[in-house]
Amino acid sequence: MKNLQLSIQGIEELPDYEVEQFAEEALFAKETLVEKRGPGSEFTGWVELPENYDKEEFARIKKAAAEIRANSKALVVCGIGGSYLGAAAAIDFLKGGMHNLKNAGPDGELQIFFAGNNMNPTYINDVLELVKDKDFSVNVISKSGTTMETSVSFRIFKKALEDKYGKEEAAKRIYATTDKQKGALKALADKEGYQTFVVPDDIGGRYSVLSAVGLLPIAAAGCDIDQLMAGAASMREEILGSEDDYNEVIAYASLRQQLYEWDRYIEIFVNYDPDLRMFAEWLKQLFGESEGKDGYGIFPASLNFTSDLHSMGQMIQDGERNIFETVINVRNTPKDIEIPAFDEDFDGLKYLEGKPVSLLNQTAIAGTQSAHLSGDVPQIYIEIPDRSEFSLGELFYFFEFACGVSAYTEGVNPFDQPGVEAYKKNIKEILARYQG
Ligand code: PA5
Repeated sequence: MKNLQLSIQGIEELPDYEVEQFAEEALFAKETLVEKRGPGSEFTGWVELPENYDKEEFARIKKAAAEIRANSKALVVCGIGGSYLGAAAAIDFLKGGMHNLKNAGPDGELQIFFAGNNMNPTYINDVLELVKDKDFSVNVISKSGTTMETSVSFRIFKKALEDKYGKEEAAKRIYATTDKQKGALKALADKEGYQTFVVPDDIGGRYSVLSAVGLLPIAAAGCDIDQLMAGAASMREEILGSEDDYNEVIAYASLRQQLYEWDRYIEIFVNYDPDLRMFAEWLKQLFGESEGKDGYGIFPASLNFTSDLHSMGQMIQDGERNIFETVINVRNTPKDIEIPAFDEDFDGLKYLEGKPVSLLNQTAIAGTQSAHLSGDVPQIYIEIPDRSEFSLGELFYFFEFACGVSAYTEGVNPFDQPGVEAYKKNIKEILARYQG
């Protein structure tokens, strides 16, 4: 039974609302995706993944995660783009964005640090500083095995491990997630005897969170990956198994296309929970790399409310009318806190004493939504009930599917990223002068 709820507001008032036509196109795109008839269909293995995954590898992932938790206080995950964003999103959402700080003490659980997602020496030094005096392990993740950011950070953490434990013991602490048979990382892993996990051939980076790419770090963080897969499977069943073709995914994907036609070419993913910040980063990559092609593409942005209402609120309320908002809300909060009482009413908020802060947050959602609606900002509202692995699995699968359908509706290949090569090529050409 699915948990996710979707509602839409502020559309009817807009001219030429043609939802039926767009829904028909989205339904056709859905069929194209499922029947593997569209461009890039060789990379649609993620569609079946929640049901059809390698169970033997899944068991090895759980075993490796338990091993890391038993012998390490920190795990450094080296990867970039699709090779880290899903795991970072899941861990922040399920364990809380402050999990590393909370686990910093000697009795803390495993800390997870992400490296390889930039080329900044201060950042790398900081991670090194944080792990070097602890027992730690490394999970290097790269499908190609040749991504510069990942490779450079891996060299640094491999050296730190080898200096600390010696080559043989270090090799036992390195877990490589890469292509099943080719590439530099696979060759190195085989030579040095690292445990390896597979990025499936038919799944691209930004659709890989439910493969070993995301699952190993997520399981190492102590999250229940069985439930994550169960949530994704439930959403898949909802999208593909129900008699009614017109479901939430179709509603969302078709509406995005309609809005784009109306020159709403910026989609702002909004949350009211700082622990969803990395989830929004995952969404930006998913939609940005999948749709931004051939001169087309809704620009994905993200804002964290209420914080960003104090920076971007003016622009949203009053700036150019080129935006729409997709709000992601978690209905139940695991921890609440009451507003304390004082004798004096020094801030005029005495009437709120004893009320839970969650009430204020939910009120902020309602108040902001109606303000933005009155400012002509269409609203898509997606709600999940809780911060569970099951709900997150639903959310991941929902957006992956919606993204595939949206891109096909517009006729672009959602599964390649030719534009990403331009900067890589330039860097390699400039660095070539250091060779020989
Ligand atoms: O979605 C994608 O395919 C990309 O974002 C890749 O995940 C990213 O470029 C990293 O590539 P690789 O895993 O080959 O190191």
